[in-house]
Amino acid sequence: MTAYSLILAEQRGRVGLITLNRPDALNALSDAMGREILAAARAFDVDPGVGAIVITGSTRAFAAGADIKEMAQKSSVEMYQLDWFSVWDSLAKVRTPMIAAVAGHALGGGCELAMIADFIIAADNAKFGQPEIKLGVIPGMGGSQRLTRAIGKAKAMEMVLTGRVMGAAEAEQAGLVARVVPVESLLEDAMATAAVIAGMSKPVAMTAKEAVNAAYESTLTEGVRLERRLIFSCFATEDQKEGMAAFTEKRAAEFKHR
Ligand code: CAA
Repeated sequence: MTAYSLILAEQRGRVGLITLNRPDALNALSDAMGREILAAARAFDVDPGVGAIVITGSTRAFAAGADIKEMAQKSSVEMYQLDWFSVWDSLAKVRTPMIAAVAGHALGGGCELAMIADFIIAADNAKFGQPEIKLGVIPGMGGSQRLTRAIGKAKAMEMVLTGRVMGAAEAEQAGLVARVVPVESLLEDAMATAAVIAGMSKPVAMTAKEAVNAAYESTLTEGVRLERRLIFSCFATEDQKEGMAAFTEKRAAEFKHR
């Protein structure tokens, strides 16, 4: 496994675990950290032995945003030429299902990174927000789009315009997070959920992720058409034959591609 300096990456069973590890800056997402996260996620993505990825931070902070100190003196032209934040677009292209296990602050880019994951499991102390407006900017890692799709215009607009922070209970009620769990068991719960996904056929799980994500990008008719194509492609896998045979034979499926 590659050595990283700002994250930890390890494999537990069939789950790839990425832990943000910049405690002195509350896991502020520097450019270098983004590159490490992407490298680790891509390595897991192409590894047939990894069926799901969990990304997490510390109990105090998932991530307190993009690194403000690194960006403060940059010009508009520099940001444009360096294509700042584009690393996160690449992360969103990872096909392996990814869970964000979020405790503490998930602010600005931290909230946006959590939303790039396929779903969020939140600790009861999690706090979500897009406070960029207080810094004289707006979200830059997809927050204005993903938050609005997740919780609707009224709440997203309020959060983006005021910088208001949302607690875990409200985030669950609003549909931003899949589930809230005690902070003490966050990682265990997220890893257990990831292990369930990793027990499925990996190509089929990737296909399911592609289908759900299409709901964000297309009309209902286009989305259903894509879904139909994708389910037909599942029938080309040995794992579909095995999954349906196992059901008929009243036994657990032994997927080949997991
Ligand atoms: N960037 C760089 N450093 C950060 C940081 C960030 N986003 N967030 C926290 N830190 C640093 C602090 O500067 C501090 O470092 P020093 O000890 O060297 O001063 C250290 O982390 C600990 O932070 P605090 O002392 O502030 O801790 P706190 O418990 O008092 O407050 C907090 C916690 C409320 C999260 C506060 O740190 C904070 O408001 N952070 C900034 C949140 C924010 O504005 N995020 C959006 C960033 S912009 C962005 O993300 C753009 C985008 O869309 C991609």
